[in-house]
Amino acid sequence: MRVVAVIAAAGSGTRLGAPGPKALVDLAGEPLIVHAVRAMRDSEVVDAVVVTAPHQQVPDFVSVLRGHGMLGGLAMPVSVVPGGVTRQASVRAGLDAAGSSDFVLIHDAARPLTPASLIRRVVAALQAGHRAVVPALPVTDTIKRVGARAKDGTEPIAGTLDRTALRAMQTPQGFALDAIRHAHHVFAASGQEETTAAPDDAYLAEAAGIDVVVVPGDQRALKITRPFDLLLAEFLANQDAADGAADVFGLGERS
Ligand code: CTP
Ligand code: MG
Repeated sequence: MRVVAVIAAAGSGTRLGAPGPKALVDLAGEPLIVHAVRAMRDSEVVDAVVVTAPHQQVPDFVSVLRGHGMLGGLAMPVSVVPGGVTRQASVRAGLDAAGSSDFVLIHDAARPLTPASLIRRVVAALQAGHRAVVPALPVTDTIKRVGARAKDGTEPIAGTLDRTALRAMQTPQGFALDAIRHAHHVFAASGQEETTAAPDDAYLAEAAGIDVVVVPGDQRALKITRPFDLLLAEFLANQDAADGAADVFGLGERS
């Protein structure tokens, strides 16, 4: 069965604070987008990749990917299309360019160290018959809801959530392509602004009435949001070069 991947890479990376787009930021000698495309290739379960890039930077992304051997000459075709103003709009643009396929993996370029085993786990659950599959990790912090901030800057606690029933979502999230494409089209209007856009693609699947299931995530699929995350990823990428590092640090564990 055919699997395409849409990699959302059209963000600017405001919180990371880099001068250019986050997906072109260097991690262990290569841009994040190169790591993300390579992860798809290494999984050996992805037939084609569509990358969404910031509007003005499509040619830059093409040349970066080509320069790192990730576009052209691969068994897995890779194309680059312009993204949108929100992540949701970018993913929709990627889905529109994805052609026909049984399944789609929707992934963030901001998760460059996602292991092949995680990608294969999501695809296996799709092949087993699920129409929407998200990798996720148990939450380790205690999560509380807060009320409106007071004048002195403090926030009142409004309640405590049951941590045992909480999961932190990762990507790639996998879907039956036609189903998630339809959901993206139905909710396209609210996806034009950050305040109303969906936090992830599974959210749209849920809203469209599609059952979504969770498979175990992986700590190595961490998202690079702030400079601290990049430091951690740099450390992990360098350890990864050393044999057995994942075992030493218990990173192969799923919880
Ligand atoms: N993304 C996208 N199009 C947008 C915004 C985000 O394709 N208009 C992508 C990012 O490139 C990233 C993923 O969605 O790979 C997750 O988004 P996030 O981590 O929030 O990245 P940015 O939006 O770039 O960062 P920030 O919110 O700090 O500006
Ligand atoms: Mg963002």
